[in-house]
Amino acid sequence: MRLTVIGTGYLGAVHAACMADIGHDVLGVDTDTTKIAALAQGQAPFFEPGLPEVLTRNNRGGRLRFTTSLQEAADFADVHFVCVGTPQRADSLAADLTHVEAVVDALAGLLTRDSLLVGKSTVPVGTTRALARRLAVRLRPGVKAEIAWNPEFLREGFAVQDTFRPDRLVVGVTSPEADRVLREVYAPILAAGTAYVSTDPATAELVKVAANSFLATKISFINAMAEVCDATGADVVTLADAMGHDARIGRRFLSAGLGFGGGCLPKDIRAFLARAEELKVGEAVSFLRQIDEINHRQRRRTVDAACQLLGGTFDGQRVAVLGATFKPDSDDVRDSPALAVAAEIADRGADVVVHDPKGLDNARAVLPGPAYCADATEACRDADVVLHLTEWSHYRDLDPAALADVVRAPRILDARNALDPALWRAAGWHLRALGRPASVPQPGTSDARRVTIPQRGAPESAAPAAGSPLSRAPK
Ligand code: UDX
Repeated sequence: MRLTVIGTGYLGAVHAACMADIGHDVLGVDTDTTKIAALAQGQAPFFEPGLPEVLTRNNRGGRLRFTTSLQEAADFADVHFVCVGTPQRADSLAADLTHVEAVVDALAGLLTRDSLLVGKSTVPVGTTRALARRLAVRLRPGVKAEIAWNPEFLREGFAVQDTFRPDRLVVGVTSPEADRVLREVYAPILAAGTAYVSTDPATAELVKVAANSFLATKISFINAMAEVCDATGADVVTLADAMGHDARIGRRFLSAGLGFGGGCLPKDIRAFLARAEELKVGEAVSFLRQIDEINHRQRRRTVDAACQLLGGTFDGQRVAVLGATFKPDSDDVRDSPALAVAAEIADRGADVVVHDPKGLDNARAVLPGPAYCADATEACRDADVVLHLTEWSHYRDLDPAALADVVRAPRILDARNALDPALWRAAGWHLRALGRPASVPQPGTSDARRVTIPQRGAPESAAPAAGSPLSRAPK
């Protein structure tokens, strides 16, 4: 089939490359000439494992091309995927739909034959219906076009794999013909046994925001439990493992720590809150506000714990930050909890050095203050404390004994609960982890064997000063 993919950001670039790989002729469209030139060379404008290979393979095979011309797109195909961004609006929690609306408006006037537009961006419920009205009034006489919604669930770092082998495909359609076309587009993926949910557009739109809200809720739930664990000496990792054995609960997305960030989860729960309020059902999802608040509190708890490890002040202390991206295997620093913590600590007088395996350029662009270092061991040189803020496997592979020799004081805060505490403690480190006791209790022994961290000054949970990077949570 001939398809276009309009908007070649994270979602669109991966979708275009993967659709070409399953056998379609694909034209990717974007207004950004630099991005289009890079994609045409097989270069992904962001770090995503496996994507350059899929791009190159299909560019060479002639099934994938890129353009900046929407006219060319309208002439090329009669199925158009809309993958442009829906960021949070600057003036509210709501999603900014201007890019989606602009694409639909512009494309409508260029279509010369019957077409199907398929939105993939995350949008508030009711958007497809509103866009269908915009489309209808802009079409040329005699041309028919329909709009369907097919939300995307891919995760950064696994985007290629998630596109080829998704957990499910969800389509929101208003006609059997649109459903038939989408089944044909995804035929090779469906043939592998992927679940296919065909429903109305409103349900399809809601599936995406409900799924992301549920994931965010799971993370904030376990982070709330981590706070309770810290107050009682219980261990949140064992708690999550034990809860996760219950098949109804499951262990995934129950990793406590610094919380969620990125371009999706935070903005999606806020946009959902805003849309629910417009629909007069704000109260039904008002818990999402608390999910967001719990999430931001983990950033403050991390700063407080670091401050305690330093004896109550950041002033003049050297802090090594391991990790800048919002999660490992990505170079994305959008709403990165790690960078928010680094910014706050730098604001409070520390001499901060940040390392990240892939995100240094992006981090430097949004947060110019700290020093950036391309080598993890060098970043830790003479550090008074090391903060493990993004759980890259690279950091689990560090040799704690060798690292102890380069720091000024072997103190580490594992804000992702991803390091082996026994290993680091055996190498002489004072390790603190969120929601975990200061030493791992031996089975069958009393709490008396646990060592408590010396508390020197710095009360926990001091509210962040106005204007601090941590006070930038949404209203
Ligand atoms: C998310 C959804 O998973 C995906 O389905 C949707 O299409 C886009 O949004 P992504 O933003 O790539 O994907 O990140 P995800 O892997 O979901 O992680 C989100 C954040 O939650 C990260 O900051 C991660 O560190 C954090 N997280 C995740 C936790 O803190 N604990 C966990 O147990 C899991």
